[in-house]
Amino acid sequence: GKMSLEEAKQFAAHRAVDEYVTKDCIFGVGSGSTVVYAVQRLAERVETENLKVTCVPTSFQAKQLIVKHNLTLGELDTNPMIDVTIDGADEVDANMTLIKGGGGCLLQEKIVASCSKKLIVIADYTKDSVKLGDRYKKGIPIEVVPMAYVPIQNKIASMYGGEVKLRKAIAKAGPVVTDNGNFILDWIFTNQDLDWDKVNNVIKMIPGVVETGLFVNMCEKAYFGQPEGNVIERI
Ligand code: A5P
Repeated sequence: GKMSLEEAKQFAAHRAVDEYVTKDCIFGVGSGSTVVYAVQRLAERVETENLKVTCVPTSFQAKQLIVKHNLTLGELDTNPMIDVTIDGADEVDANMTLIKGGGGCLLQEKIVASCSKKLIVIADYTKDSVKLGDRYKKGIPIEVVPMAYVPIQNKIASMYGGEVKLRKAIAKAGPVVTDNGNFILDWIFTNQDLDWDKVNNVIKMIPGVVETGLFVNMCEKAYFGQPEGNVIERI
């Protein structure tokens, strides 16, 4: 049920924060619903253990979370080397390749992850999969410059098949606009046996593509909260 899903997220988040947050660390704050529990835990620890942690956000949402919990806000200009980033994911496959960007924050998430010594994923058990597409059915998010979205849709579909959809806003007529003023395409792929590292590189080379939600060889460890209250780790 819904309660155990939320609890599963919370268990994973607490485990990761307790394992990886150290006294004077620079901490990357991911985006999404699971990260909320991580920031709550971090704020508790900063208060009770008197830690000095600088938090670098991966989105507008993350920045607001940091401010709301009275944590120290940092940016890459002054903190270009992050010790550990804790973030959610939409799907984690057996090789630790991630789909991210279900919440639309993939670009800043990937930048911050790329500046981090470690990227740790926290998720509930529904994100744990063998092959990408087994569990997450909404496709791979791709952030694009607005004027280029149609040619990019056509290029990806003709190279790899599937359907490439412009993500629509919910409370507004028209497309989702990201924190960076771009659009999001969701590529519903049909071939689950692609070489994701190659695909990521090919798609990134299409003019107008800003970033993809494929995180290949970036994640060091994933924590999956289980409905029974235990946490499964994958490295
Ligand atoms: C945000 O763009 C995503 O990459 C999130 O990290 C991902 O969707 C996980 O979010 P939840 O924790 O809400 O599942």
